[in-house]
Amino acid sequence: MSGATQPDIRRLRDTDIASLRRLICDTINVDYAPVYPPRAVDFFKDFHAEPKITERGRLGTVLLVEQAGDLIATGSLVDDEIFAVFVRPDHQRAGLGRALMKELEDRARASGVTESVLSVSLPSRRFYEAMGYEIVQACSRDLGEGQRLDFWKARKRLLPEGGLKAAAGAGFAQPAGEVGLQFGAQPPPRMSGRAAL
Ligand SMILES: CC(C)(COP(=O)(O)OP(=O)(O)OC[C@H]1O[C@@H](n2cnc3c(N)ncnc32)[C@H](O)[C@@H]1OP(=O)(O)O)[C@@H](O)C(=O)NCCC(=O)NCCS
Repeated sequence: MSGATQPDIRRLRDTDIASLRRLICDTINVDYAPVYPPRAVDFFKDFHAEPKITERGRLGTVLLVEQAGDLIATGSLVDDEIFAVFVRPDHQRAGLGRALMKELEDRARASGVTESVLSVSLPSRRFYEAMGYEIVQACSRDLGEGQRLDFWKARKRLLPEGGLKAAAGAGFAQPAGEVGLQFGAQPPPRMSGRAAL
């Protein structure tokens, strides 16, 4: 998709829930099963069960990309948190993840969010870093029998549309001595302690 037309991104409808759950589970099987232990894979599937998808749609925004009647990518936003970003394996590295992140961040910005937070799965770290997210904490959930779910918390400052100039006008002053948009010297953000992937 690089350099091609923008994908058609739309919001979740009730009739999408079963297909969306399938898209997420198929992607988990391909991308997570090789790097996470079985209990972590089950945890992820449970985290994206149909009632939870429905709840996300009710509390926030669940976005979808559809192609020829098939769902091929998704991402969600609830308050300042982005999660459940999944691109069907045969459509990865084509810009869909980037397009979804832009749309989710734009919507967060439009609702007044100035910093987005998310949890980063093992295979997605380079993607989120490429999207401008800074890893702020390594986390690990003990799932028993020696199995763990490792992930990171990350965050990104959301500048108003128009970039740094608009940010200055909107009161996004850089702390003295800080170059660019670095968070390293600041305390970590609030951590919910839940894996939101
Ligand atoms: C992570 C994921 C959402 C990325 O979506 P995508 O559509 O493949 O990503 P994009 O094509 O928009 O990639 C944007 C940039 O991110 C980086 N990137 C994406 N995938 C990468 C990878 N596997 N390795 C290294 N860099 C990667 C690249 O810089 C890429 O730009 P480029 O293709 O021009 O080099 C997708 O791979 C996925 O669904 N993975 C499994 C589920 C998952 O881990 N989701 C995240 C939940 S925490």
